[in-house]
Order: sequence, then structure tokens, then C-alpha cells
Amino acid sequence: MQGISFEERKMARFFGFWTLLIFIVLCLGCKRQTRHYVIGVSQCSADIWREKQNAELRMGTYFQDGVELRFAAAYDSDERQVEQIDSLVNIGIDLLIVAPNQVQTISPAIDRAYEQGIPVIVFERKTNSQKFTAFMSADNYEMGRQMGDYIGKRLGGRGQVLEVMGLKGSSPAIERHNGFADALKQYDGIKIVETLQGDWTEQTAYNIVREWKEKNEGERIDLVFGMNDRSATGARRAMMEMGDSAVLYCGIDGLPGENGGIRLVRDSILDASFIYPTYGDSLLQLAVDILDGKPYKKEVKMMSAMVTHDNARVLLIQTDETLRQVARLDELHEKVNSYMQQLHNQRTINWLTWGVVVLLVTVIILLYLYRTGKIMMRRERMVNTLWNLNAEDIQTSKGNGEQKSMEEAQTSLFVSRFKSVVEARLDDCNLSVEDLASDMNLSRVQLYRKVKAVTGASPVELLRAARLNKAYKLLLTTDKSVSEISYMVGFTAPSYFTKCFKEEYGVLPGDVRN
Ligand code: FRU
Repeated sequence: MQGISFEERKMARFFGFWTLLIFIVLCLGCKRQTRHYVIGVSQCSADIWREKQNAELRMGTYFQDGVELRFAAAYDSDERQVEQIDSLVNIGIDLLIVAPNQVQTISPAIDRAYEQGIPVIVFERKTNSQKFTAFMSADNYEMGRQMGDYIGKRLGGRGQVLEVMGLKGSSPAIERHNGFADALKQYDGIKIVETLQGDWTEQTAYNIVREWKEKNEGERIDLVFGMNDRSATGARRAMMEMGDSAVLYCGIDGLPGENGGIRLVRDSILDASFIYPTYGDSLLQLAVDILDGKPYKKEVKMMSAMVTHDNARVLLIQTDETLRQVARLDELHEKVNSYMQQLHNQRTINWLTWGVVVLLVTVIILLYLYRTGKIMMRRERMVNTLWNLNAEDIQTSKGNGEQKSMEEAQTSLFVSRFKSVVEARLDDCNLSVEDLASDMNLSRVQLYRKVKAVTGASPVELLRAARLNKAYKLLLTTDKSVSEISYMVGFTAPSYFTKCFKEEYGVLPGDVRN
């Protein structure tokens, strides 16, 4: 560190220390997030069943830090779902949860996601591809089979049944139908009069049943099996409007809540339903387990159960209670969220306040150091230039060699004269710059200019530095008291001397003596 004084080094060290401290404090203040997953959820439809599931998925994130969900609903359109999956992949999701609208049509988009290394959970509806990470669903065949068995018994083994299918190419429709048809094979007296092609919506079920009824006037129907509760209620509306009031209706989904299948069964609007579980929270847990690299099951089967007049009342009480708790949990989450937000804001304010305090302290310390350093350096410069430096060290103006050495000689002469004039009268407390100037045969202004040009300091500063420098030497080399020395170097009051000394050297005269 040549050319850098001790004081400058000290300042640099201090500055470095405080900058590092501020940096560490700010780093500690920054919130550290351990993980951040973006999970895309591609829903084939948008209806109360999907809404419930999405709400559960969202609730699942309350218990998982750093998980963000991106929802997309295709409203039963294959093209839209393909586009939505592609754009979810493009935004850079970490995992895809997908309920494919139909078995065939959505596979290419799912395959594309999977081939890009994005884990895929196929949920509830199947594809014809093996490119997925996990599959989660209830057993749709079994549900159809149990419903068929229930209907067989409910009709006492005899009767005419109308079946309203779900969307043709979707796996639950195919599997529910197969299970249903297989179960009814055991009941010779039961005939599936017609299997109508629906699409899971209430309106389509209404339209196709009405149309069928108009074409098949007089055909007796004892029971309509709609493949979901919405299809069953759509079919019921059509039948009732056509004056057919003695028919039974069965559906699937068995949702809780105001418009859910459980209430419809309790209120005898439907004869039976089947709980088709949504399990959004388990779905999210599976997704996070996959992303966390934890062990998981490739096929997860969800539990389901029949809803009939016998259990609908109890189920409704229980599910209503669950919904109430869920709503409270939601409320609690809102509260915790807003509390956390407040806490976060408060913490930010605290950090900022601390930041400002640390900054101010730093500035004050640096200013102090700078001032002390400057005083010390000035003192060093003055004393060095005048009392310790040789003529060669003193700056002279540039010029040719002869002219330069002439100037140097003159400057050297001037310096030695000035030194001897000052040293000769150091004990004179009344010594003024005018006195020095007249001793040097110069005007006050001439002396000032010359001294300033040669040393960079003013005559007054040099005089003071010389007095203190001498005092310093006397303190080290004599037994004289501080007061005596102060008078010897031309100070009128020892207290003022002590003050100036401390300013110059940063220590008290007594300390130097000790
Ligand atoms: C919801 C839904 C349910 C049905 C399931 C079949 O979108 O239509 O009503 O049980 O999908 O996948």
C-alpha cells in the first residue's frame, strides 16, 4: 500500500467493515424461500364438481410453502384443452395435473409435456398413453357396476331403464357404462331401453331425453340412470315436462352442499347417487411429493360410496359440518394471511429503520475518521514539508534543468530561513504572521503565497504545527511539565494547548509523556 498513509488505511478498513456489516444485515433481512413450485391444473370442464376440486387444491397450498397453482378450464373442448396444456408448459410449470376431456384427443399434448421432463398427474379421466407420472382416480367401472346392482334390486329385478351417458370419448363414461351393463346382466327382467349419448352437462341431458321421449311416446321408463347427477337432473326436468312423473332417477357425483347430489337424494329428487370424490388436497400432496422427490404411488385409487335414501340424511349432516369447517378454515387462512402481511410490512419497516440507523452511524463514523485522518495528514504534511523534508522533496515548478535547480536552491534557502525564523521565535506567544513576514523581509501576502506554494499549508497552520511538534519532542525528551512546555512553545493557556494537542495527535500531552 505504497503512498497510502496509515490513517487512510485505517479509514479504508473501517469503511470496509461497515459496508460488510450493512450487507450482512440486509442479506439477513431478505426473506429466504426454500422452494417454489408452479403447478399447472388443466381441467376439462368447469362445473360444481371441478370448482370443489379446485377449491381443495387451493386449500392444499395453505399447508405447502412455495406452491403456486395455475388453473385452466377447457369447458369440455378438446382443442381448448390442448392449447391450454401447451401454454401451461410454455410458461414453465414444474408439474402438470390434468383431467383429460377425452381419452384419445388430449394425449398428444400430455405426451409433449411429459417428454419435456414435466411430471404429469393424470386425474380421474384416462388417456391412451403411458406417458404420465401418476394416475389418481376412483374406480369408475366399479361405481357403474354398484349402481347397476343397486338399480337391479331397487326395481325388484324388473323394469325399463334409460341410460344417459357422459361424454362419449371420456374414460369415466366408458367405464361406468361397462360396469353398469355388466351388473344388469344378472337381472333378466331389467332392460336398458336406450343408451343416450350425453356430454356430462345438464342441458344436453335435458335435450336428448326430451327428444327421445318425443320420438318414443308411450314407451314406459321406470328409471333413468344419468352418469352424473347433473345429467340425472336434466333428464328428470325433461321427463317431468313431458308429464312422466313416476320415474326414478339415479346419478353419480354425490356432492355435498346446497346443489349437491346428497341433498337431491335426501329430498327424493334423485333416488340414488354415488360419491365421486374430488380429493383436491390429496392430489396436491401427491404433486408436491413428486416434486420433492419423495416416494409416491403411481396409481392412487380414491374411495367412493353409494348415496341412497338410507344414508343421505346422515351424510348431509356430516358433509354440511365439513363444509362449515372448511369455510372456517378458509376464514382462518384469510386472517393468518392478513396478519402475516401486517407482520411482513412491520418487519420491512423495522429493517428499513435499522438500515437508516446503521447508515447514519456509518456516515458519522466515516466523517469522524475522515476529519481525524485529514487533520493528521495535514499535520504530517506540514511538519514533513517544513521541518523534515530536504530541498529535493519540495515541489518546484517545471522548467529546464538549470532553471529548476536554481528554483530548488531558492526554495531550499527560503525553507531553511523560514524554519529558523519560526524556530527562533516559537516561545513568543504574540508572534504573528506579520512578524514572520517582516523577519523574512516579505509582505504578509507574499509570505502567505510562498509558504502555501511550497508546503501546501498556510503560515498560521505551519506555525501551530511547529509549536505542537516542538512540544511533542519536549514531552518525550525533557521532564518539564505540560504547562511549562505549553508556555515554551508559545501557548498562552495550557488548557488551550492541551486541546490543540489532542486535535493534532489524537492523544493528550500527558499520555505522550506516560
Ligand atoms: C365433472 C364431471 C363429473 C363427472 C366427471 C366425470 O366435470 O362431469 O360430473 O362425474 O366429470 O369425469
